[in-house]
Amino acid sequence: MTSQNLIIALTKGRILEETLPLFRQADIVPKEDISNSRKLIFETNHENVKLMVIRGSDVPTYVEFGSADMGVTGKDLILEYGSEEFYEPLDLKIATCRLMTAEPAVSNPVSDRLRVATKFTNITKKYFAERGKQIELIKLNGALELAPSLGLADSIVDIVDTGKTLKANGLEAKELIANISSRVIVNKASLKIKNAVIQDILAKLREAVEARLSRR
Ligand code: PRP
Repeated sequence: MTSQNLIIALTKGRILEETLPLFRQADIVPKEDISNSRKLIFETNHENVKLMVIRGSDVPTYVEFGSADMGVTGKDLILEYGSEEFYEPLDLKIATCRLMTAEPAVSNPVSDRLRVATKFTNITKKYFAERGKQIELIKLNGALELAPSLGLADSIVDIVDTGKTLKANGLEAKELIANISSRVIVNKASLKIKNAVIQDILAKLREAVEARLSRR
């Protein structure tokens, strides 16, 4: 496929399960079972193409600095990372969900400044600033849905898929901040230097995405 080495950073976990079939269809197949391995880097059926499997929030960092040429990660993490230093040429249309604000279904009286709990601090700051709303930002790393009922926050910003987590915690989705899915990102210098092989992979992945959607 290429004589130049190419490293692609994939997001581990649920996204990986949906990413690998698309890569397989694009003729990039890991030599061993990624899901059952503790290794972080994998050989593929192409001698010079390797796959890294890391946390989604680290994919933009590896791609921005060129340690990985390409990556797959969620649009939420790309927005949160907030870099102009890589391209985002392809929406894989997998792992779709929404980034939303949510509040208690039965709302508590709001303190003078809305307290918003989230792990997406950059996105949240920008979203409320663009609407001229001053907020108090509360950074949490998980279990955000508990924050309102325990009096820590008036509102949260989080990923909503089925809405079950919100409902189970007495919360309601309010405003849509962004539709989320997994995207392919590409290091700018890599795209210049390794243009042919990257364009070839993108074209094959694009076909795989279309084929998957037309089967549904
Ligand atoms: C996400 C998100 C919510 C949940 C929403 O968490 O943070 O907790 O999914 O899904 P639902 O609308 O279908 O209930 P995830 O399980 O991805 O783990 P995380 O806490 O690490 O983000």
